[in-house]
Amino acid sequence: MLNENVASLINQQINKEFYSAYLYLDMSNYYIESGLDGFGNWFKVQAQEERDHAMLFLQYLQNNGEKVTLGEITAPNIPFTSFLSPLQESLKHEQFVTASINNIYDEASRIKDYRTMQFLDWFIKEQGEEEKNAEDLILKYNVFGTDAKGLYMLNSELGTRVYAPPSLVL
Ligand code: FEO
Repeated sequence: MLNENVASLINQQINKEFYSAYLYLDMSNYYIESGLDGFGNWFKVQAQEERDHAMLFLQYLQNNGEKVTLGEITAPNIPFTSFLSPLQESLKHEQFVTASINNIYDEASRIKDYRTMQFLDWFIKEQGEEEKNAEDLILKYNVFGTDAKGLYMLNSELGTRVYAPPSLVL
């Protein structure tokens, strides 16, 4: 069994990861409806990864004999004002998720829950990659995306992203 507070934070994290999937699916829809199917594909794959993150947190609770409590998932409600704005919003969102995971780690560390700290190590690294990907995308968009030909090429590149299951197996 886990510490009550740690288990509660992980339960909340499941919801945040499913919300992330919802948010990225909303971004995917926005791009597809705007004719940028490559950007749409990139965010659809991102949504699949977020669903995997939620399932990993869920599995961790169950592996430790804890009850999983599923809460309501808030509908995404961010207005996208330009092709750049979902990219900026996704970076902001990843920074929020990083802070949330760091907070669980802080609590696990405070009570010397080494098992949870080790479980979270994968997510700490993953968040580094997620933030870097979001930053890179903003940079690429600013360099290439403002020109129609560059946007077309970037859209084609993002269309090649394929879903891969997470490297962490519980
Ligand atoms: Fe599950 Fe993008 O953090």
